[in-house]
Amino acid sequence: MGVETSSAWQALQLHSDSGMGSVHLSKLFQDASRQENYSLELSDVYVDFSKNRITQETLQLLIDLAEQQKLPKEIHRLMTGEHVNDTEDRAALHTALRALGKDVSGYAEVVQPEVEQVLQEMAVLTEKIRSGHWRGYSGKPITDVVNIGVGGSDLGPLMITHSLQTISSPINLHFISSIDGTQTSNLLRGLKQETTLFILASKSFTTIDTLSNAETAMDWLKECIKDEHIMFSQHFIGVSTKPDKMTEWGIPPDNQLLFWDWVGGRYSLWSSIGFPIALKIGMDGFRELLQGAHEMDQHFATADLQKNIPVILALIDIWNINFLNIHDKAILPYDARLRYLPAYLEQLVMESNGKSVARSGEAVPYKTCPVLWGEVGPNAQHAFYQLLHQGTQAVMCDFIAPVERDDFDADSHTERDESLRHQHELALANCFAQSRVLMLGDDAIPQALKASFDSPFKHYSGNQPSNTILIRTISAKTLGMLIAMYEHKTFVESVVWEINPFDQWGVELGKLIAKETYSAIKDKPLADSFDSSTKGLIDRVAK
Ligand code: F6P
Repeated sequence: MGVETSSAWQALQLHSDSGMGSVHLSKLFQDASRQENYSLELSDVYVDFSKNRITQETLQLLIDLAEQQKLPKEIHRLMTGEHVNDTEDRAALHTALRALGKDVSGYAEVVQPEVEQVLQEMAVLTEKIRSGHWRGYSGKPITDVVNIGVGGSDLGPLMITHSLQTISSPINLHFISSIDGTQTSNLLRGLKQETTLFILASKSFTTIDTLSNAETAMDWLKECIKDEHIMFSQHFIGVSTKPDKMTEWGIPPDNQLLFWDWVGGRYSLWSSIGFPIALKIGMDGFRELLQGAHEMDQHFATADLQKNIPVILALIDIWNINFLNIHDKAILPYDARLRYLPAYLEQLVMESNGKSVARSGEAVPYKTCPVLWGEVGPNAQHAFYQLLHQGTQAVMCDFIAPVERDDFDADSHTERDESLRHQHELALANCFAQSRVLMLGDDAIPQALKASFDSPFKHYSGNQPSNTILIRTISAKTLGMLIAMYEHKTFVESVVWEINPFDQWGVELGKLIAKETYSAIKDKPLADSFDSSTKGLIDRVAK
């Protein structure tokens, strides 16, 4: 008997059945003060959740559900390092990585010295590389650093460094993740061995995607470097929880940055996996990122559930998914610097909560994680927004935008800066217009234009729920806050759904079968026992 039979769940079902399930947002907005009562703010982050089909009663029933699921206790267990990842019997202590020695207790406090130790090791390497003291085999300083990693060992650093692209850096950063080799071969064509350093980032140091790209990088270096010791010590840094495996691969201990098994891959950008971020923005900038996340952690740990941003956002999604039957979610940033945020959140959210078995081992009879995807909003407007406005699929949306652009001088009034300012205002106007039309539908059509929209093909039903998340500007601090907010939101959802968000058994079988399939491509008779489709595809490749 799971959460779906509980009194709090049943009360929400009744609330939906008896009217809220069919209410239109335009009706709820007859209350002129709605936004004031359905928004929350924490320093540089402002969240408007008014465009959801909720009332104060809905919120109260959702809070009852969270309390019934003992959410405050679960938050405490998470942040003190109890073994919340029960199928792997370990903690999920990403919050301890960004506490910087403050406000921690339990095992989170115990690990602080080793967390600080690794931060200091990162600082030494960062300074050496950024200052030009780290030299390649020919004695020249490093100009290009290539991070080779995949999933959590790629997406976080990629997303953050891309978001902070306007910060100038002495190092050109590149990312390689995909197993097929295309990224590697394209990238290496434009780089020089003598000035290129590779970071091999892999929690397990067994991921074939990363190791195969690393082998190709090594072969490329060997074209110029005959002395293996020089190649490994001057052109490779390893980041992993497995020092022995890094050493076995050839990376000397002085070039190794460690992290720990209690850091989940998709929660690891705060650990030494974030090393490329430090190379891009410096160690002070990296600490600002951690501080931003810590500010959100403290809010999450201490704010009342009613005023708690990750909690409220999670409960609203649960309302949408489980009681309004909306199973898709779009992430729509209105600044191209946030281009990789949707991909990052795809892993964070779907690898965490894409589960159908509860912690009890029983299959869950209710929906869990939505299908989540996204794109830079202004581009998506010219691609999939048609479906959002007139499709048959209900989709909940998160619109995300910086209020200000600080990548040009606020006092400067050159024509170029004026144009950029104008473009920023256009982007914000589009962001706000889209969420308004998605909410109101035909009611958003100005009176004077009503006649020209008098056609069934120009009908907008509206009533698509959305949140608008404004950050003051795109900075290390606000990104830290934003990502920690989504992490905690994901955790809250898992608590209500009674699933473990910190394992990912679903991806393991695919890895195993890929190995078997690779053997069959190399040795065709092995494919004879496969299904006809797979065997046929292998035959075709062989021909
Ligand atoms: O395939 C899934 C996964 O295990 C992710 O959870 C992880 O982020 C990614 O692979 C990379 O793993 P690793 O850092 O161990 O190479």
